[in-house]
Amino acid sequence: MPRGVTIDHVSFGYNKTAVLDDVSLDVAQGELFAFLGPSGSGKTTLLRLIAGFGTPSQGRVLIGERDVTGLPAWNRNVGMVFQSYALWPHMTVAKNVAFGLERRKFGRAEITKKVRTALDMVGLGAFADRRPAQLSGGQQQRVALARTIVIEPEVLLLDEPLSNLDAKLRVEMRSELKAMQRKLGITAIYVTHDQEEANAIADRIAVLDQGRIQQIGTPTDLYDHPANRFVATFLGTANLIDGRIDGGRFVADKFTLEGITAADGGACISIRPQDITLGPAASGAGAIVAEREFLGSVVRYRLRMSGQHIVVDMPHRRDGETYAVGAEVGLTVDPRQIAVLR
Ligand SMILES: Nc1ncnc2c1ncn2[C@@H]1O[C@H](COP(=O)(O)OP(=O)(O)OP(=O)(O)O)[C@@H](O)[C@H]1O
Ligand SMILES: [Mg+2]
Repeated sequence: MPRGVTIDHVSFGYNKTAVLDDVSLDVAQGELFAFLGPSGSGKTTLLRLIAGFGTPSQGRVLIGERDVTGLPAWNRNVGMVFQSYALWPHMTVAKNVAFGLERRKFGRAEITKKVRTALDMVGLGAFADRRPAQLSGGQQQRVALARTIVIEPEVLLLDEPLSNLDAKLRVEMRSELKAMQRKLGITAIYVTHDQEEANAIADRIAVLDQGRIQQIGTPTDLYDHPANRFVATFLGTANLIDGRIDGGRFVADKFTLEGITAADGGACISIRPQDITLGPAASGAGAIVAEREFLGSVVRYRLRMSGQHIVVDMPHRRDGETYAVGAEVGLTVDPRQIAVLR
């Protein structure tokens, strides 16, 4: 039976250094939830607290309705896949998968059946007698997954499970992983520092920086409505422009934008590169093309405008207009596509 996870005002530190600061979030039953943040932001630490490897200095961890804050790992029905896979090299694939069941004192026949089901589920039914060293990285990763799902945990915790794989396999495995999570209907928390991976796989994402939650939302929420500068720049490329909003108009040096629906006062707006259109410059109001990169589907321009760099992606068309380095260009922005940050 899958259960949700609640993190309720959790703080944690090693010695006296704070690593997690007042973290709260709810993972729904059956949801695939990602912790996304740069290295050292506290993702693994938070995952370990859910698994029961460590106790928060403040706050509570709940699995379903049950407060598990003080419970040791083996009293929580949680399965964790470690980044390193931690397979036993001297055991066959089947033995690796059976290990957790043996410790839980299942009967021999039942173990054989469960192991077979789990290996079939990850597509490794034919590999039961191999040893980890005779498998590819992706296959080892699937053994680690089979070993975890075979114990039928209520919650599946995955710590950068694909980081050892090459780029192509990583993309394949992430959709397989998502399909499997759906099939099992299991609640899963997926740790990654790769925003593309989080966007591709997660129902919702919690963005962490320096032990604090910056924002929680669906991938599109976070991309379209970032709460702050960190989220705006961590999830994709963003042009951040500082200025003021005054009666529905955003004013910055050399740049004004009408039709803003946000309260008056100092503000920073975030504009995605694809939400700016280049055209001829109105006299003196333009930006200068500093660099132009052809990326295939888009042409990426780096512009200089009052000492600031602006990135613009224009879709590439065979007969489309392009602008040379050094040219002066005008910018058009749809005010509905911007995010106002404070
Ligand atoms: N055992 C430990 N003792 C002391 N400090 C630790 C320990 N483990 C982690 N830390 C510190 O806690 C902070 C958060 O570490 P954590 O492993 O949770 O980060 P992370 O977000 O998982 O990073 P990464 O993406 O690199 O895996 C870091 O500053 C790290 O140096
Ligand atoms: Mg980590």
